[in-house]
Amino acid sequence: MREFFITATDTDAGKTFVSCALIKALTQASIQFVAGDKNICATKPTKVAAFKPVAAGCELVDGQLINEDAKLLSEFANCQQSITDINPIAFAEPIAPHIAAKKQNQEINIADIHHHYLAVKSLNADVTLVEGAGGWRLPLGPSSLIPLSAEAMSLNINTANSQKPAYQFLSDFVKAAELEVILIVNMKLGCLNHALLTYETIKTDGLHCIAWIANCAASERMDNLTENITELEQLLPMPKIAQFDYFNDVDSQGNKLSFHEKINLAAQQINLVPLLK
Ligand SMILES: Nc1ncnc2c1ncn2[C@@H]1O[C@H](COP(=O)(O)OP(=O)(O)OP(=O)(O)O)[C@@H](O)[C@H]1O
Ligand SMILES: [Mg+2]
Repeated sequence: MREFFITATDTDAGKTFVSCALIKALTQASIQFVAGDKNICATKPTKVAAFKPVAAGCELVDGQLINEDAKLLSEFANCQQSITDINPIAFAEPIAPHIAAKKQNQEINIADIHHHYLAVKSLNADVTLVEGAGGWRLPLGPSSLIPLSAEAMSLNINTANSQKPAYQFLSDFVKAAELEVILIVNMKLGCLNHALLTYETIKTDGLHCIAWIANCAASERMDNLTENITELEQLLPMPKIAQFDYFNDVDSQGNKLSFHEKINLAAQQINLVPLLK
């Protein structure tokens, strides 16, 4: 089973858009397996599960907080997960999740996230795709619980002297779960700095960033887009597996494109080889 964490240079960089396209492409791809006891190699459709552990910005529907990202992911994944299976920790207000939690006298902790992730893992999907929130170092706030591992402690700012509670980040969960990371770069002015800082931090955290995707999340095309992508191809050591232009609501023939149609088009442009080998 491959387990990918989708992070980005910032919020609104296209994590959900690209995650849906990745899931679409993966569910259309076949994977090999050994059938029966005769060692016969056969192929089957790839089973893909989705997880969006923490989301802020949800609508209350029939007493449940529904996050749009989780809803979209549920429309593409093929493991019959409910929206709350995909997004177990949800807040109504579209603000930093740990601030939303604090306003409700709640705490987001990694042990809870891990507990929910084990339920996703029990689906035995061939690929599990986890969408982050915001950028790589998303704060989860101080935790009164003991972190999962000594490794997860490495970024905590508490010491015996400071008496502060352990401070946790979503990246601590990624470290504890040892997920492979895919970096989405929103192609806009400043993205070279953001992409390099994010890549270097992922690496310093001891994680493997296996691929990156150049995404144009805004309709205004950045100046010198090609030069910026070439620069990133030289600076980032992992392969670029896709390059998405901004998909307009209307195609070149004047036909209206739905979100699903845009995702279908994007899915066809992904090189899945580094994800399936
Ligand atoms: N290549 C693209 N073409 C067209 N629309 C895009 C593209 N990439 C992203 N978008 C749109 O831009 C908006 C922001 O993208 P998205 O929601 O995927 O970002 P995100 O990184 O998941 O944000 P968040 O941090 O809130 O989870 C969405 O409306 C999305 O559909
Ligand atoms: Mg999103």
